[in-house]
Amino acid sequence: MAAMKFQDQKLPERDEDFVVRADQFIPGRRAIFVIVEASFQELLPAGPARILVVGAGGGEEIVRLGESNLSWSFVGVDTYEPMVELARRRIAGTPLAARSQVHAKTIDSLEEADFDAATCILTAHFVPDDGSKLAFLKAIRARLKPGAPLAIVDGVGVSGEDETELLRRIWVRHAIRNGADEVLAKSNAEIFKTVAVVSPEREVELLTNAGFDRVTPIFRGLAIKGWLAFA
Ligand SMILES: C[S@@+](CC[C@H](N)C(=O)[O-])C[C@H]1O[C@@H](n2cnc3c(N)ncnc32)[C@H](O)[C@@H]1O
Repeated sequence: MAAMKFQDQKLPERDEDFVVRADQFIPGRRAIFVIVEASFQELLPAGPARILVVGAGGGEEIVRLGESNLSWSFVGVDTYEPMVELARRRIAGTPLAARSQVHAKTIDSLEEADFDAATCILTAHFVPDDGSKLAFLKAIRARLKPGAPLAIVDGVGVSGEDETELLRRIWVRHAIRNGADEVLAKSNAEIFKTVAVVSPEREVELLTNAGFDRVTPIFRGLAIKGWLAFA
């Protein structure tokens, strides 16, 4: 079965609904950004820092990490133009606009490098584990300063395994409990069976093979897991 692409999902009509839906569906959505922000505050020296945002569509990372950290600037890449446009609309007219750029391009085509940190949130799980996911992670690492942190958050679990399926059923109830439409919650859970998720062990192996070290878990909410990894 071909891996699902992000653009196979129907985006909500209104920008505000994308934000609300993400909060309803993603366990610990707000906590993820607070943890990533706190991680970078702990790890980066005070003062200016350039942050690479891979899968920057929608603009959430830039909004959440940029609002209180006025010396951080952001370069985002995302391969899906409507999500890039959504990010640009959210940032336009805010103080973040002067220190953020979001490009509709792949990470391997980004010429800028020497970033102080990177995020890759709910994005690598759309890249198939057929050599592409490893190449994608290597391309991120190649754009970081030596030792710089990557915060990566992905769905994990092998479809069909008991634990994955249990977490998927709980995920549907969690979304409905959070106000999501029941039909949408159930259909999303079906669609996500085809996302290119891998086991947590495989994700750590891929990060290590891409040259990252000190892979450190920082988040788990049902089947969403997050790590810091150092270039
Ligand atoms: C679930 S959204 C997450 C967006 C954002 N990181 C957040 O947490 O709100 C996944 C994003 O990854 C993007 N994406 C998928 N494959 C990608 C790739 N190979 N390179 C860059 N972005 C990609 C999609 O276009 C989409 O905007």
